[in-house]
Amino acid sequence: MDTATKTSETTTEEIMPIQGTDYVEIYCSNAKQAAHFYKSVFGFHSLAYAGLETGLKDRESYVVVQDKVRLVLTSPLKSGTDIGRHIDQHGDGVKVIALWVDDATTAYEEAISRGAKSYMEPQTETDDHGKVVRSGIYTFGETVHIFVERKEYEGAFLPGFNKWESSYTPESIGLKYIDHMVGNVELGKMNEWVKFYEDVMGFKQILSFDDKDISTKYTALMSKVMSNGNGRIKFPINEPAPGLKKSQVDEYLDFYEGAGVQHIALATDDIIHTVSTLRERGMDFLSIPKTYYDVLTDRVGEIDEDIQTLSDLGILVDRDEEGYLLQIFTKTIQARPTMFFEIIQRKGAISFGKGNFKALFEAIEREQELRGTL
Ligand code: FE2
Repeated sequence: MDTATKTSETTTEEIMPIQGTDYVEIYCSNAKQAAHFYKSVFGFHSLAYAGLETGLKDRESYVVVQDKVRLVLTSPLKSGTDIGRHIDQHGDGVKVIALWVDDATTAYEEAISRGAKSYMEPQTETDDHGKVVRSGIYTFGETVHIFVERKEYEGAFLPGFNKWESSYTPESIGLKYIDHMVGNVELGKMNEWVKFYEDVMGFKQILSFDDKDISTKYTALMSKVMSNGNGRIKFPINEPAPGLKKSQVDEYLDFYEGAGVQHIALATDDIIHTVSTLRERGMDFLSIPKTYYDVLTDRVGEIDEDIQTLSDLGILVDRDEEGYLLQIFTKTIQARPTMFFEIIQRKGAISFGKGNFKALFEAIEREQELRGTL
């Protein structure tokens, strides 16, 4: 069953050096309330705001931050906007995965010359704190990548945003950075998007999983993991594989009405603290049968954490040649059964928890069964 393959790494000059994820923008119907959720449950802090008070007429955005993770929550202020139409079709979801680059003009020109579809030509935005250049291209579905060049900027977030001062600052839960973000694409489209990331962005495929790795009695999916040169950006891309019943990827595609971001994996150095706090604050996670923990040590060997604590919290463990990882998945976090979060702590492991796929997908199927969408 060990069909996951690690492809050989070749060193070629990077088409576009990427320093990391700059921000993730979520289009949602009530950005003000969403920002409160990310603060009160996930421990993000207020960073910046743009809206009526900053001269915008059609939308408002709240920006929250925790260590290197920046989320932008955006809602329309009137009917007939692109944002409103996006929400009408997809529900709440990720519109922008912004990438921090040294040169947003060159990144854009390289991407366009290699076949990317333009979302936003390079634009220079300035305010009292300096200058930012941004440009953008489309990726899967209606999702876009915006390249952000901010080496000459010292403001809170971006020009046009005011610093958002708030006396409400729930304690951070130890989230550090975005480990990976997963895209769900339509049946037969995975390789097309793998090729897009290879050809347009210069990414390499670092892992692949087929339906023998990722299947249960009923459902299956296939996945390939794309990474940029320095490994700071990792995008697993899933497509549904034929199964006896509707797969979780199919359910996502039905409810999102197209391809889009399925989950955002947030890294922590102390998953027990992070997940305990999230649970105290009311976050729901997929539940795994207690029997999972009966055979855990046999499967992954000795680990630092207490198995009973992991079992109480529902944290999963997997091991690869480099070490092990701990992970857990929230239930979907908006009205539609589409996007969710993963919390991950890596202790050497560089993989994505293949050993947990079966237990995990069976947990998702129990949720699908309750929704009548299996
Ligand atoms: Fe993941």
